Amino acid sequence: RIRRRELECRYDIDDMTPLFLAIYRSLIPAEEEKEKQKQLLVSLRKLVNKEWPDAELHLYGSCANSFDVSNSDIDICLAIDDSKMSKSEILLKLADILESDNLQNVQALTRARVPIVKMMDPVTGISCDICINNLLAVANTKLLRDYAQIDERLRQLAFIVKHWAKSRGVNETYRGTLSSYAYVLMCIHFLQQRKPAILPCLQEMEATYLANVDGVQCAYFDQVDRIRHFGAQNNESIARLLWGFFHYWAYCHDYANDVISVRAGRNISKQLKDWTRRIGNDRHLICIEDPFETSHDLGRVVDKYSIKILREEFERAADVLQYDSNPSVTLFEPYVP
Ligand code: GTP
Ligand code: MG
Repeated sequence: RIRRRELECRYDIDDMTPLFLAIYRSLIPAEEEKEKQKQLLVSLRKLVNKEWPDAELHLYGSCANSFDVSNSDIDICLAIDDSKMSKSEILLKLADILESDNLQNVQALTRARVPIVKMMDPVTGISCDICINNLLAVANTKLLRDYAQIDERLRQLAFIVKHWAKSRGVNETYRGTLSSYAYVLMCIHFLQQRKPAILPCLQEMEATYLANVDGVQCAYFDQVDRIRHFGAQNNESIARLLWGFFHYWAYCHDYANDVISVRAGRNISKQLKDWTRRIGNDRHLICIEDPFETSHDLGRVVDKYSIKILREEFERAADVLQYDSNPSVTLFEPYVP
């Protein structure tokens, strides 16, 4: 493989920024859709509190971290303190409650890695997954939302990357490619590495948010209103950053030795984490450290077949942005096997 690490991007890359920004804007959900999500949450809260008065419902995932494109499913976490019932029993009970309130396609997946109840609200057409007591996901949702408020280029980059990943079929964890959450972490890490940096490392700054969530210390600087100017020294356009992102993952990332870490604000070594060999199903072929559950590699779903697909897609994207005459179309061409 020819390593094109030294390559500069094409001279007219910045001219493509308006096209990518137009795509970004077209993906933002309408205000009306966000309103419907809120209404659904309110009615679900009423329903759940009839059975469990002290339980709380939290939105998490993309609908709450500001990285949601239109028509996304919503993710909800039921926080409940019930020692008399197991998680499965709670899920089954919840499924009953939802079904008797005429919610559609109610399904309790009690054996999934993250057990959930799935359902669809026929009034708003919104599909939703409800999990139990997954409060770390609520905490990382806040971290992502806080990063998004520092520099708008993060949201722009992540939307385009997510749209690319969905179009190219590489946003499917059950088939060995990466979750949306992993892609957003890759974008944050990339913007932390720019020179000058576009994003800071919030977990290395003075902690203004501190929480112990399921035994994990979550601590970082969350007063992001005060650091909105952070990336101002860097004026790279979104098209240039997009090229840089794919070029990094295609030709520069050291897959054999490095772990990307948003927590540390840089790459750290696989050796340090003991992620150098396969343990059980964790192969660590692309390593993305979870910012709070640091023993958790979001690349663990990637296997020896899907790593090849992923890397070929990164290369294709970098090459499209480099050489194609119409990159804002070609980049998102659906993958046809
Ligand atoms: P889209 O639904 O694709 O718009 O993105 P999303 O951010 O909602 O991603 P997804 O539905 O896959 O995951 C929901 C949330 O679960 C994430 O935003 C994280 O807060 C949390 N999460 C924590 N650990 C993991 C993990 O290992 N994989 C995934 N997918 N999500 C995790
Ligand atoms: Mg989601």
